[in-house]
Amino acid sequence: QMTMNNDIERVLYSVEDIKEAAHRVGTQLATDYADKTPIILSVLKGAILWTVDVMKEMDSYAEVEFIDVSSYHGGVASAGEIMLRTDLNTDVNGRDIIIMEDIVDTGRTLKFMIDLLMERGAKSVKVASLLDKKEGRVVEANVDYIGFDVPKAFVVGYGLDYKELYRNLPYVGVLKPEIYTSEDTATLNSQD
Ligand code: PRP
Ligand code: MN
Ligand code: MG
Repeated sequence: QMTMNNDIERVLYSVEDIKEAAHRVGTQLATDYADKTPIILSVLKGAILWTVDVMKEMDSYAEVEFIDVSSYHGGVASAGEIMLRTDLNTDVNGRDIIIMEDIVDTGRTLKFMIDLLMERGAKSVKVASLLDKKEGRVVEANVDYIGFDVPKAFVVGYGLDYKELYRNLPYVGVLKPEIYTSEDTATLNSQD
């Protein structure tokens, strides 16, 4: 039988691991923003599940907004050019922003968003990411709230996609190499 689970070589972060991380980050955010009303800015599409699970752990006032930016264009390696697919339609001037990401890799997407928000007059911008792939950094980008420090492997699940699939896996895992196309493998190897 063909299932998504069969495409996974190994589980990196289980449902239980992620639940604990969301609780840890969510309660910390609630404490840190107790006297503010921040905008939780979820970065589509990868951050959808992480955003929902973290915000449910925050017993504090917060607004939720979405922005759709893309760098990978469906493949396994960052294309380097950030596309603003759908902007948020709220004024961020003077506001405290918490960017929600599923993963920070090269840092290009994050830098693009921080620059955009600061340019628009945001009072503060912090970042809460499920995964921080520090080895992947090409531009400087700091993650303030980290679920897990992730090694340099191509991971999918819990919002993270390969060619738009696997986002609905409830855990984070590593794809079997035979799932990648040979073209993708060449791109991946040239980056190492
Ligand atoms: C992925 C991920 C981050 C970004 C991180 O998004 O969700 O937003 O790339 O990579 P970077 O640090 O190298 O910029 P992607 O562009 O694949 O869009 P998606 O969230 O819709 O899958
Ligand atoms: Mn993304
Ligand atoms: Mg993607």
